[in-house]
Amino acid sequence: MESGLDHRSARALLEWHIALGADECIQDAPVNRYELPEAAPVSLRKAAVVAPEPARPQIVPMVQVDTVAEARRAAAGAADLAALRAALEGFEHCDLKRGARHFVFADGMAGARVMVIGEAPGREEDLEGKPFVGPAGALLDRMLAAIGLSREADARDQGVYITNVLPWRPPQNRDPEAGEIAMMRPFVERHIALARPEVVIVMGNAACEAVLGRKGVLRLRGGWAEAVGVPVMPMMHPAYLLRNPAAKREAWADLLAVQARLRGGR
Ligand code: URA
Repeated sequence: MESGLDHRSARALLEWHIALGADECIQDAPVNRYELPEAAPVSLRKAAVVAPEPARPQIVPMVQVDTVAEARRAAAGAADLAALRAALEGFEHCDLKRGARHFVFADGMAGARVMVIGEAPGREEDLEGKPFVGPAGALLDRMLAAIGLSREADARDQGVYITNVLPWRPPQNRDPEAGEIAMMRPFVERHIALARPEVVIVMGNAACEAVLGRKGVLRLRGGWAEAVGVPVMPMMHPAYLLRNPAAKREAWADLLAVQARLRGGR
């Protein structure tokens, strides 16, 4: 742009602008600095208008873990109860582990004639790290005492070994999911095989599903079944009995059936 200023006046004007705070020279007409002049080589002009392809996200193939197969492998590798406990505690495929305070394995006498299998730790069990120590546990202790069994006893005949299908508390005590039960099933079966009870009592639906592969405890209860070569008595869960005291009559009949079996009857 032509100007009638001599260079001294132009310089004085520039210095005055700078003193006012101007720090940038702007022309009268806008300039598109992204547009290359027609004279630029075609390849350069193309490169200027074609936006570079965004980097494609790398696709990492998801490795599907067969958690039941993993559980089978881990459980089969346990040669005794201590090894099974360690294998289960170290099993990383069950998300419940992340939300639980304690790992709950078992209580009572390993090697007792009777093994009781419940569902999963509740609030009290999660806090203490022991199965059946809350209100349902107190009722279970009274039921077992009625047929001469106690988790405190250290003799095979009077003792009882107590565990759950799940060793970690489900959030808000929700029912165990089918996938969780299937994942724990190999551990439960190995647990029975290593504890070698003469009779197993499964309490509630989750235990029936994990041990017998069947649901519907209200239908199954009172009749003998078999798992891992051991007689199994399905019974109503003590928590259910607390909510439905009238059902205790049938639970008492089931306990008498267990007692009769232990005494040698069928
Ligand atoms: N209910 C269960 O099934 N197991 C426990 O340990 C406590 C409550």
